[in-house]
Amino acid sequence: MNSPAMQGLDLNAPAHVRHPGLIAWVADMAALCKPDNIHWCDGSQEEYDRLCQQLVDAGTFTRLNPAKRPGSFLARTDPSDVARVEDRTFICSDKQEDAGPTNNWMAPAEMRATLHPLFDGCMKGRTMYVVPFSMGPLGSHISHIGIELTDSAYVVVNQKLMTRMGKAVYDVLGTDGDFVPCMHTVGAPLADGQKDTTSWPCNPATKYIVHFPETREIWSYGSGYGGNALLGKKCFALRIASTMGRDQGWLAEHMLILGVTNPQGRKYHVAAAFPSACGKTNFSMLVPPKGFEGWKVTTIGDDIAWIKPHADGKLYAINPEAGYFGVAPGTNTLSNPNCMASLNENVIFTNVALTDDGDVWWEGMEQDSGSKPAHLIDWQGNDWTPEIAREKGTKAAHPNARFTVAATNNPALDAQWDDANGVAIDAFIFGGRRSTTVPLVTQARDWTEGVYMAATMGSETTAAAFGAQGVVRRDPFAMLPFCGYNMSDYFQHWLDMEKKLESMGHTLPPIFCVNWFRKNAEGKFVWPGFGENMRVLKWMIDRIEGQARGQETLFGIAPTYAEINWSGLDFSPAQFDTVTSIDKAAWEEELRLHGSHFEQLAYHLPTQLLDTKQALEKRLAEV
Ligand code: GTP
Ligand code: SPV
Ligand code: MN
Repeated sequence: MNSPAMQGLDLNAPAHVRHPGLIAWVADMAALCKPDNIHWCDGSQEEYDRLCQQLVDAGTFTRLNPAKRPGSFLARTDPSDVARVEDRTFICSDKQEDAGPTNNWMAPAEMRATLHPLFDGCMKGRTMYVVPFSMGPLGSHISHIGIELTDSAYVVVNQKLMTRMGKAVYDVLGTDGDFVPCMHTVGAPLADGQKDTTSWPCNPATKYIVHFPETREIWSYGSGYGGNALLGKKCFALRIASTMGRDQGWLAEHMLILGVTNPQGRKYHVAAAFPSACGKTNFSMLVPPKGFEGWKVTTIGDDIAWIKPHADGKLYAINPEAGYFGVAPGTNTLSNPNCMASLNENVIFTNVALTDDGDVWWEGMEQDSGSKPAHLIDWQGNDWTPEIAREKGTKAAHPNARFTVAATNNPALDAQWDDANGVAIDAFIFGGRRSTTVPLVTQARDWTEGVYMAATMGSETTAAAFGAQGVVRRDPFAMLPFCGYNMSDYFQHWLDMEKKLESMGHTLPPIFCVNWFRKNAEGKFVWPGFGENMRVLKWMIDRIEGQARGQETLFGIAPTYAEINWSGLDFSPAQFDTVTSIDKAAWEEELRLHGSHFEQLAYHLPTQLLDTKQALEKRLAEV
């Protein structure tokens, strides 16, 4: 074997790494990728600071003004590397039908043959970092360990904020513990003596985000950005974990988790799935508005939930992450004050704009200051003025610009966020971004109808993924880009939870469907949203407590105007009608779209969902 020792590269595994299988794998991967050096990350602050300085020296990071944003940095990426690449994402299960019609698939042997030459020598001229991380609290029975090998220092410092990363992971791993091997390269090897000509090396032409669910491996090539490169997040905690969940009887979901406490001190926990850039971070940090004195919302997670049935028959959720990689544009002290407070220090910003005094700026911040800055450096490093923006339409920050920050920065962090047992879920919420058709809120009449609502959810696409924006696509459970196996089998897995929990003597959490995004003829949002979503959350709790009767609609049980607490908000019954009305013609079309969606998912599609569709059609015909 072409071992690193044979190339004169010393593996130098530290003494605390006592796992021969892991060491052998790192040796094999080093032999394949041929880095100049290997660095075993310990996760210390000293290491973080050193790598951040190294990124500053390389031009990847700009250190922000310490008086304005202590301990914080701005990274600008290559303009070709700004979001997840769904068309380059593959689920390479042995059988194509196990990946299902919504995933790109290639036979594992063929994909390995494709990747091998790409990874061969891919880290030449660079350092291979060995990044040990735990998804979930260290040592918890719900947690899983990953080891990411990457040639990107940016990835290392992000993983430090996003996961429990460092030396302690090796204690949990011992000599033979399981880990998910996560290979990552920016795909830009350097020839002998060659220096980077860019501060964001990546491979603009070739990208692969590959998952082998049977062997639980991740191979990512060519991108340094977000979910493409921080492999603990979408690749592991959703695509690989969803297949683990299928096999082991639990759920890995694209959901925020929040705690909501009423003035009497009674606390509920809610898990909510919204597609990318559709308000999970916002909702998870919600500040109750006027009229909700004494109410409190606390964050457990803002993006991913691992949910397991417990011996008491309830569903318990943990947030496998330890930080937030959130959308910057649109965030301000009105839309999300807790988030703004989280961003005061020790933040990595990516693709936002730089102010003349060394701070950051993005679209939406003008609502705090009352005006746009006269001059900025935009996310591509160019001069930006309001005039240039008007003339050329250039955005100061990329629409998918993000911040990376540790959860502990969040003033609304829930006391149980790190609890190894998780929190018992009292309600599920599913919501898409729909300018028409879907009402503000409805509750499914039963578990199956809830699964139907989630399975048929549509949403207008956003900048979180590369490609066309603002087009409605079906995004079942907000998991379209993240389900690691056949979507219809995933629906069945959700349906099966009902019997499983009922046999344990538990009633399942209610399922709600929401839409914050309806617009009027002028294209303006008709629901105020953000903190005002508390009014909807409160109605849900009233439903759980048996305090609100609601009214039957075509698409589940909806609140009456009188059942919502309007205290502190001027919102008329006529306005309420614009956000809740159900248009017959629009729903006829919507159900046709559900039909073609189900045709695409015909293989293994649970018949219960077709029955539910028929019942909805019957109701609609009677309206
Ligand atoms: P990912 O991190 O991509 O998974 O997304 P996320 O769901 O956490 O998205 P985030 O909370 O960052 O949502 C960002 C976008 O949603 C911004 O454009 C916000 O302005 C918008 N948004 C969030 N909540 C609301 C709301 O209640 N009403 C409206 N109109 N927009 C909202
Ligand atoms: C999403 O796109 O849903 C995200 C951002 O949360 S990323 O980590 O890039 O996937
Ligand atoms: Mn997400």
